[in-house]
Amino acid sequence: MFLGIDVGTGGTRAILADRDGRVLASHSVDHAPIHSERIGWAEQSPEDWWRAAQQAITGVLRQAKTAECDRPVEAVGLTGQMHGCVLLDAYGEVLRPALIWCDQRTQPQCDWLTETIGYQRLIELTANPALSNFTLTKLLWVREHEPETFARIAHILCPKDFVRLRLTGEYAMDLQEASGTLLLDVARRRWSAEMAERTGIPLGWLPRLFEGVEICARISSAGAAATGLAAGTPVAAGAGDQGAGAVGMGILTPGSVSATIGTSGVVFAATAKPTLDPKGRLHTFCHAAPGIWHVMGVTNGAGLSLRYLRDTFFSSLSYQDMTSLAAGIPPGSDGLLWAPYLFGERTPHLDPNARAAFVGINASTTAAHYVRAVLEGVAFSLQDSFTLFAELGIPVETIRLGGGGARSPLWRQIQADVYGHAVQVLEAEEGGAFGAALLAGTGVGAWPSVEEACRAAVRPAETIEPQHAAAMTQIYARYRKMYPVLRQISG
Ligand code: XUL
Repeated sequence: MFLGIDVGTGGTRAILADRDGRVLASHSVDHAPIHSERIGWAEQSPEDWWRAAQQAITGVLRQAKTAECDRPVEAVGLTGQMHGCVLLDAYGEVLRPALIWCDQRTQPQCDWLTETIGYQRLIELTANPALSNFTLTKLLWVREHEPETFARIAHILCPKDFVRLRLTGEYAMDLQEASGTLLLDVARRRWSAEMAERTGIPLGWLPRLFEGVEICARISSAGAAATGLAAGTPVAAGAGDQGAGAVGMGILTPGSVSATIGTSGVVFAATAKPTLDPKGRLHTFCHAAPGIWHVMGVTNGAGLSLRYLRDTFFSSLSYQDMTSLAAGIPPGSDGLLWAPYLFGERTPHLDPNARAAFVGINASTTAAHYVRAVLEGVAFSLQDSFTLFAELGIPVETIRLGGGGARSPLWRQIQADVYGHAVQVLEAEEGGAFGAALLAGTGVGAWPSVEEACRAAVRPAETIEPQHAAAMTQIYARYRKMYPVLRQISG
């Protein structure tokens, strides 16, 4: 069995998968809520991730025992929310809560980077522009605002890599994750010495880099005592949630694309070479599989939109109750639109200050309309990435759905309608944890390559054809008009 661990935003999930891609057991543990001291700030405690990871691992091992599939864990793979900035001292102790991916406070640091390095040179060095989500901008914020903390930094990690440190004692990061730090030379798959030097970040703070399938560490005796895993179990580098999720969905060749709605929403395409958007609206990252790259468009507030709606207005309802309500409303939500910019927006607007809005309310608008409009608005925001793919000539042959957007039959249909393209759902819809397990299995030779792992373990379950594509194309044109107006009127 292979263990995949996904240190997400809402919680940590551990799954055990076998060589046929069957998920034998899974266990999730919630994190403490995101701490937001000011509007746009978002912090979490790395030690809370480690607590959740320990509980998720012990939970999944216990479940495997009771399900009588008590075989040894051959390898562990890690994945998780990307971009978070974990600051550690020389003893590996956490110096302050991590500024996580959706924290939006670093626009001044982005402006400084663009000015100091130059927009064009930044793209040449890292394949990406300075965005407030990226790790380096968070590190620069700490330098400016908390110099005493900055002076004590000895190591920087991303969230899942902190869990790896606690499991193994090793400081390591995979290339797909490192692509989201703005310190990686994405085209050459190595840290950018020039970026480190010009921003004053010692290269020695950065962990060793590995391809996703490489075994970079082993479970230590302390890690074993904390989790019940055997000391010495190999740990693969893994990948950020989007890279590992793409492996779990078999997105490895040009033309195959995924649309995943987790807290964020991502449209992801594999590419044989680094493919750049000259305007920086798509991210260009190393893929989790060796020697290939990917592009992705990211909507910050995708699943988050539905959670926001539930927590604010529908706290007595489950997500399923909410989508059942919405199923009674016609496509287009009778004119109600949702602009999902709850945490600013990345693709396509690159605007950390963007604000969300419902537009088109009238006296007939019911609670159910709000739910359907949110499901549609999130799909429209992902359609913005497909629009960019078309502009840049990135091929889209198959679309596979992942995350919460793949689990709800209504959200699947809405996505097929909005994308105007058939969408597939897969047998094992387990997100990044499944991909991390496949990377780990490949790392110990269960499959000769990630492609073979996907061939053996990733199976489509159903294809959903669009039914209202023409109507949704018209409504998308209205959706596109919202952001420029919102930008003018937001304070
Ligand atoms: C990807 C991204 C999100 C986070 C949280 O760039 O920011 O997917 O990893 O899921």
